[in-house]
Amino acid sequence: MEKTEKYRLLERQVAALVEGETDTIAKMANLAAALHETFGFWWTGFYRVVGSDAELVEVPSPRELVLGPFQGPVACMHIPYGKGVCGTAWKRNETVVVPDVEEFPGHIACSSASKSEIVVPVHGAGGEVVAVLDIDSDRLATFDDEDRVWLERIVTLL
Ligand code: SME
Repeated sequence: MEKTEKYRLLERQVAALVEGETDTIAKMANLAAALHETFGFWWTGFYRVVGSDAELVEVPSPRELVLGPFQGPVACMHIPYGKGVCGTAWKRNETVVVPDVEEFPGHIACSSASKSEIVVPVHGAGGEVVAVLDIDSDRLATFDDEDRVWLERIVTLL
């Protein structure tokens, strides 16, 4: 099956899976599983924006990305703002496509098998970044603009 057809089916599957579900972690878990199984990626998962440096909270903690639901090998659990591909996508508030992770300055290598990567921001109701979807491939240049467009659409189902 072609990539476009796979995404088309996946979008319908995910829409049905999340319908009526209000728990975001549960939705992230099934979305990661559906994506991972459909495409056979190396690693598929979410990092959530956690912490609050706002002055009004009792115990402020710097905001960072913390590992969320995923499929694949164990991964790093904390990523600071602006660091790695994930922290960069969060800071820029845009999808980052990396054809060769060795060429990305500051790339955080959770696994040496990872060769290319795409990171898509997930937005909250106010438009702020609340998480990122991170997908790693064990092949170079796996992700292109078509992946970006579909994945940006699919994460809005969360
Ligand atoms: N490579 C990512 C870190 C997360 S792992 O790939 C699962 C990055 O540079 O942000």
